[in-house]
Amino acid sequence: MAFLKTEKGGLMNMLKKLSTLFAGFALMLGSVDAKKYEDAETKKTLIVYFSHTGNTKLIAEKAQEELADVNWQVDLQRIEPQKAYPEYGDKLRNLALKEANEDNCRPEFNSINVDVQSYDLILVGTPVWWYKAPKIVLSFLEKQDFSAKEVRFFITHGGGPGTCISDMKTACEGANFGKNIDVYGNYPGNGEIDYEKVAPWIKKIKNENNQ
Ligand SMILES: Cc1cc2nc3c(=O)[nH]c(=O)nc-3n(C[C@H](O)[C@H](O)[C@H](O)COP(=O)(O)O)c2cc1C
Repeated sequence: MAFLKTEKGGLMNMLKKLSTLFAGFALMLGSVDAKKYEDAETKKTLIVYFSHTGNTKLIAEKAQEELADVNWQVDLQRIEPQKAYPEYGDKLRNLALKEANEDNCRPEFNSINVDVQSYDLILVGTPVWWYKAPKIVLSFLEKQDFSAKEVRFFITHGGGPGTCISDMKTACEGANFGKNIDVYGNYPGNGEIDYEKVAPWIKKIKNENNQ
């Protein structure tokens, strides 16, 4: 009996040692994985957008939601006019038309404390106003230094995108451009956006930046 007791105790001890060893090994593997995450460089993306009736905002928020990851910091900034634009309707249409026709018009926006140079990728979104990029978006873009930065645009419109994207490209001097999207947006916004068009664009951005 005494022999059996010793044997049983010995067996138990061996099993205990094995499980400790196994747990240690699993922990080691876990920490290797965690370390891999810690060591990977964090990508920084800025999503900056203007949106009056909410369509463009929906895409901006979707992009943030999809791109944000352990190693992907995504900051969202909205361009807000210092003097609020009128509700949708004739007053807004007329004011926007006046701004569109004045080449040098650059409406003031509430200060945004960002430097695009500190980001790896910048996504810029806007509605189309009178076949152009709203002047307030140019106000923001022209205040930044886009040299050598990766920039992608997303715009929403009611069927006539006009020169909106090329207006913004001109304002982002020195940047590198890739695939942009233009998406239909009801005027005024009704909370509906064609995410089937947005999803592949976000996926492409994700793939490009995970390489
Ligand atoms: C003042 C104004 C001008 C617009 N001009 C155009 C235009 O030239 N072409 C177009 O396709 N849509 C035009 N639209 C429609 C908007 O671009 C479209 O509804 C957009 O999705 C609105 O985006 P938001 O909800 O983010 O403000 C205009 C809308 C407004 C308010």
